[in-house]
Amino acid sequence: MRSALVKVTRCVGPGYVIATRETVGLDAQCVEVDLGRFWTAVDSERLAEAWDVGRGPLLPGFDEDWVHGARAELRNRVAGVLDGLAGAAEESGDLAAAVGWTRTVIERDPLSEQRVRALMLRLVRAGDRGAALSSYEQLRARLANELSSAPSPKTRLLAERIRAAGDGPPAPAAVPAASAPRLPPIVAARARLPFVGRDDELAWLSEAHGRALAEGTLVAAVAGHPGVGKTALAARFAVDRHAAGAAVLFGRCRPDGPTAYEVLADALAQLVAGAQPDQRKRWAAEAGGELVRLVPVLAASAPPPVGEPEGAARRTLAAVTQVLAELASQRPVVLVLDDVQWVDTPTVALLARLARASLPGPLLILLTFRRAGLGEHDGLRDLLHDLRRDGLLVQRTLEGLPAADAAGLVASAAGHEPSPEFALALQRHTDGNPFFIEEVLRGWDDAPVRGRDAAAIEAAIAGQRLPEGVQRIIGRSIDQLPDRSQDVLLEAAILGSAFDLEVLGALAELAPEALLDTLAVPLRIRLVEEDADDPGRLAFHHALVREVLLARAPAARRAAVHARAARALEALRGAGNAAQIAR
Ligand SMILES: Nc1ncnc2c1ncn2[C@@H]1O[C@H](COP(=O)(O)OP(=O)(O)OP(=O)(O)O)[C@@H](O)[C@H]1O
Ligand SMILES: [Mg+2]
Repeated sequence: MRSALVKVTRCVGPGYVIATRETVGLDAQCVEVDLGRFWTAVDSERLAEAWDVGRGPLLPGFDEDWVHGARAELRNRVAGVLDGLAGAAEESGDLAAAVGWTRTVIERDPLSEQRVRALMLRLVRAGDRGAALSSYEQLRARLANELSSAPSPKTRLLAERIRAAGDGPPAPAAVPAASAPRLPPIVAARARLPFVGRDDELAWLSEAHGRALAEGTLVAAVAGHPGVGKTALAARFAVDRHAAGAAVLFGRCRPDGPTAYEVLADALAQLVAGAQPDQRKRWAAEAGGELVRLVPVLAASAPPPVGEPEGAARRTLAAVTQVLAELASQRPVVLVLDDVQWVDTPTVALLARLARASLPGPLLILLTFRRAGLGEHDGLRDLLHDLRRDGLLVQRTLEGLPAADAAGLVASAAGHEPSPEFALALQRHTDGNPFFIEEVLRGWDDAPVRGRDAAAIEAAIAGQRLPEGVQRIIGRSIDQLPDRSQDVLLEAAILGSAFDLEVLGALAELAPEALLDTLAVPLRIRLVEEDADDPGRLAFHHALVREVLLARAPAARRAAVHARAARALEALRGAGNAAQIAR
């Protein structure tokens, strides 16, 4: 052994070999091992380099037992590197590269169903449904030949859905529009109104639809303030999908004590009303009494509902699922449920099950709901939470329109292009809320739409009478606040569109912490917001909130608060805070 070591040292030079009584090795500082480079690259997430170094077999030609284990481990890690490369390519929008990397990992691990499913989904997203299905066929043949087995139900279901889905995103034009059920009247009516902007949101919805095409059922939720354009966006999207061959169903929740399943009944009633008599008869017979209960128009074609009340929820789910499954087997289905902040509890339970049901074709459930008050109701919040956890939900909050789109809206409402100054002032005043923009413009005979003098425009907008619709909507958010918060907001409104916390605290006679407690909810629902440059100041989110607060308070009350505000300012000035107050 010693003479062997001497020989090695002579060959490689001194300092490389480290030998103790128990071990003999090479000094890691002096030699470079490709495996070491691989691990370093993996640890620092340089995946392309890791693949470059680790792609070959470990120690080819060696056949010792330990080599087999190490080789398998390295192969696993390299496969993980390839998965990472594919994911990163997809995220950066390079689907071709994502498909390439996924194919490479499958060459090395052809029986991995999970990877074949990923490849199928990526191919569908890249618009190559045929290749996705042939990858599935290759997997099926290999499993049969090599393991005498078949793909798992999950992989089979994916293949069936891809087969049923038509040409895949972005335009699932599998079925001619003429044969799809007619557009619900409310959606058709909305589609005739002007529509501006929202390109990002529409692209996001198309992507969600693409996912539903590939994966089955997906829920997309659009939240936002009243009047921000949730229904308009849902209707525009639904019209586009309908034109591409999808079936569109539309139901709306109502605020005043909804009866169970009302919104679904709404959506299905239109479908049933438009169906052929023999189809109605079949639905009535097959989907049973609960469907008749939901859609009474079916009663003419079927016996009255029967069954024990305790099984009613299950039977209703079965009935709704059956109708949707039948529809989805022919074409993608978009089910729009509008204003689900008012949804009834049985519908929430049904939606939770429906989203997980296995339908033979794609279903996108598009929910819209207001989030202007103190949050959605518990049932809805839990539903969204559970769906998100299971990867079945995508969600987005709709903000007001940016100035450029607000200009487009003004142009369509006023009949001519506004000046950029006017569009910007109106956008600021209303926070780009299209309903508020329309309301402010309404009844304004002589709007300075083309004016260029920003100050004059601001003054003209501020001098407008506060539209009733705006008052009602913002008033409703204010009504939901605790009384003390409402009082403090009125005091803030008297101080100005932006206000100093110290001054407000003095006026409201609240210590800083108590004041912040009182403002916590208005801040959360964004009636007011913090000044990014000055932590001591807050501002109303848009001017209309302040105007509504002032308009709602009786004149005597406003005068009293004014007087107190003057005294509070005086007292603070006396205490030497004049500089702060002056801001
Ligand atoms: N992108 C848009 N382009 C043009 N007009 C729009 C747009 N979005 C909304 N509007 C108009 O603004 C008004 C309010 O929109 P919409 O009814 O969609 O709001 P919403 O968010 O659904 O409100 P609510 O919470 O009250 O249901 C409607 O008159 C609508 O036509
Ligand atoms: Mg709406």
